[in-house]
Amino acid sequence: MQRHLISAADLTRDDAVLILDTAEEMARVADRPIKKLPTLRGRTVVNLFFEDSTRTRISFEAAEKRLSADVINFSAKGSSVSKGESLKDTAQTLEAMGVDAVVIRHGASGAPYRLANSGWIDAAVINAGDGTHQHPTQALLDAFTMRRRLVGRDAGLGQDLAGKRITIVGDVLHSRVARSNVDLLHTLGAEVTLVAPPTLLPVGIETWPCEISYDLDSTLPKCDAVMMLRVQRERMNAAFFPTEREYSRRYGLDGDRMAKLPEHAIVMHPGPMVRGMEITAEVADSDRCTAVEQVANGVSIRMAVLYLLLGGNEPAVTHTRPTGSEEK
Ligand code: NCD
Repeated sequence: MQRHLISAADLTRDDAVLILDTAEEMARVADRPIKKLPTLRGRTVVNLFFEDSTRTRISFEAAEKRLSADVINFSAKGSSVSKGESLKDTAQTLEAMGVDAVVIRHGASGAPYRLANSGWIDAAVINAGDGTHQHPTQALLDAFTMRRRLVGRDAGLGQDLAGKRITIVGDVLHSRVARSNVDLLHTLGAEVTLVAPPTLLPVGIETWPCEISYDLDSTLPKCDAVMMLRVQRERMNAAFFPTEREYSRRYGLDGDRMAKLPEHAIVMHPGPMVRGMEITAEVADSDRCTAVEQVANGVSIRMAVLYLLLGGNEPAVTHTRPTGSEEK
C-alpha cells in the first residue's frame, strides 16, 4: 500500500482486494453492540472540507471514531480560508498540531496531490473528492457494494469483479465518481460502459478503458449494475442539454426502464440524488436501489483505508479466542 490515497488509478488489483477484504472485517464491527476498535488510539485525523458534503464527511468521521482516532473537523466556511488563507498556510497550521492523517475534499482538481507532495506536511493524505478529478473511497465503497451483491459477502473474499458488466449513466464530464469508478472497475476486471449525452462526455474519453454508448435502453438488459450520476449543475457554466425533461426522458431511470434490467441487477447512486431528474422516486425507493447500503458500506471502506494507511501491521480486528485455546 502507498502512504497516501489520491487516485483510484494508483491502486493495484491486490491493493484494492486487500482494502475490500479489510472492509469486510470492519463491517463485522458495525454488527457489534459497541462499534469501536482501539486501532488508531492516540492518532489525530483532520477532516479538511473545502467543498460541501453530507455522506462523505459523516462517514469519514464515523470511521475515524470507530477506530478511536482523535478527530478534528475543519470546514472552509467559518475558517480563515474565507479570509483568503492559502492551502499551504492551512496545511502548515495542521502540521504544527501534529496530525497523522488529513482527509481532504477540495473544489480544485489536484489539491490533495499538491498537499501530499508539497513537503508542507508529513501526514498521510486521503482524497475525499477533488474537483472533477477523483474520489477513490467512493469507487472503493461502490466496488465493495457490487462485490457483496454480485459475488457474495463470504464468497467475495479475495475476489475481484472479473467479467461483471457495469453501466455508468449521466454527467460523466463533471463526475469524479465516474472517473474513479472507471479506473478501479477496470483494475478489478469489470467491463464498464458509460452512457451519456455527447455534451456530457469529456474530451479524450476514447482513451479510457471502457465502452461508450448514447442509448440507455439498449445497454440495460446487458448489465449487472447500473450506476446513476447526479447532473452537477454547480459545475456547469453552459447549457449541456435542452431541458431537464428532455434529459430525464433519455437518460433518467424510471420504473419502466428498471424493468429492462436482468433480475439480479442492482441500481446504484453515490448521492445526493435529484429525484425526478436522473432517477425517479419509485426507483430510488425500490429494493434494487443500493444508495443507502452504499452509505453504510462507506464507513467500513473508510475504516479499512485509514487502518491500512495508518494502522501498521497489527491485526485490524482482534478476535476474542474461545477459552481453552490460548497459546502457551
Ligand atoms: C459525489 C461527490 O461529491 O462527488 N457524492 C458523494 O461523494 N457521495 C457525487 C455528487 O456530488 O453528485
